[in-house]
Amino acid sequence: MRSFNTEGPIRPDDHYNLPPLTRWDLDQVLSLIEQKKYFLLHAPRQTGKTSCLLALMAHLNRDGRYRAVYANLEPAQAYREQVDAAMATATQAIVQGARCWLGDEQAEAVATEVLESPARHLALQNFLARWCARSTQPLVLLLDEVDALVGDTLLSLLRQLRAGYPQRPTAFPHTVVLCGVRNLRDYRIHARSEREVITGGSAFNIKAKSLRLGDFSAEETRTLLLEHTQETGQVFTPEALEQVWTLTQGQPWLVNALAYRACFELPVGRDRTQPITQALIDQAKEQMILERVTHLDQLAHKLQEPRVRRVIEPMLAGTALGDVAEAARCLSGGTRSGLRLAGDLRSAQRAATDRGAHRQ
Ligand SMILES: Nc1ncnc2c1ncn2[C@@H]1O[C@H](COP(=O)(O)OP(=O)(O)OP(=O)(O)O)[C@@H](O)[C@H]1O
Ligand SMILES: [Mg+2]
Repeated sequence: MRSFNTEGPIRPDDHYNLPPLTRWDLDQVLSLIEQKKYFLLHAPRQTGKTSCLLALMAHLNRDGRYRAVYANLEPAQAYREQVDAAMATATQAIVQGARCWLGDEQAEAVATEVLESPARHLALQNFLARWCARSTQPLVLLLDEVDALVGDTLLSLLRQLRAGYPQRPTAFPHTVVLCGVRNLRDYRIHARSEREVITGGSAFNIKAKSLRLGDFSAEETRTLLLEHTQETGQVFTPEALEQVWTLTQGQPWLVNALAYRACFELPVGRDRTQPITQALIDQAKEQMILERVTHLDQLAHKLQEPRVRRVIEPMLAGTALGDVAEAARCLSGGTRSGLRLAGDLRSAQRAATDRGAHRQ
């Protein structure tokens, strides 16, 4: 039985989904790869970046022209500015990806060789050069959570990729996709080894393009919800469909989380003979707000930024009606839906206060 996914990347066999490769311009992505480009994919948290990378890897490996490997660099974050340890961890992440997705055992031997050599700070570059040189097919490397790295380690990663770039595709990856929350242009790298702040653009001037993954459109939101109807026969009333869009503005995780609660957790919603109504969606929303689910906090995180707070705080405090258009300009993507829910949080808090006052 499939359901709405609220934990991590989607698995098409287990989860209702919009086919990830339809969420971006696949022709453009394939054309960039064809041209041996290095490029970026970025979007706010919980938008579907990892789901897209994994689907792209599967697509390329099925096609057979390239060997594609996904690796998550987040484990290297713990080493902060210790370049040797962070580069060894990044290398190991790729080795693990090669083993898991391609069944490639050769990568491990190459990594061991490289990590035993004295130039450990260049481990990633040396590993990629030697590994690719031994491969019969061009490698497409999909690196996730790149901007989890900081300071000297981020700088080192970008510079090692730039240094090996001219050797592609025979002795370096044919294509590298760097994926993160921020656009490379917005990377401001405070490295201990440098006197000045280095911008991402200057450290990685080989970047061909930055692709931004957006939220779901109203139509896509509806299509995802109707997967549940097709699979179980349980209908959403038109008002319920509309309400999911109104509350989430298509933020992918929020759409799934609201629908999951309404259809798989609330007792009435679990009865497939009953329609999912607007009231059920509202009930699911209230529960999420009261439980302050983690991602909701993350989505509302941007509210901490001074320029955003100046606009939003009076609205939340109820001291001003607020200029919603200006608020929307300050915020982007998922955060806008976070704002709507934050507004609802205020209503919920007021209601709770009123109930408390009533009891006294
Ligand atoms: N193609 C899709 N169809 C339906 N829902 C999706 C799809 N892609 C993502 N989602 C929703 O978004 C959530 C997060 O997906 P994913 O982990 O791929 O995003 P992410 O952008 O990599 O997140 P993070 O920034 O936290 O790493 C999923 O749990 C699911 O709720
Ligand atoms: Mg991810």
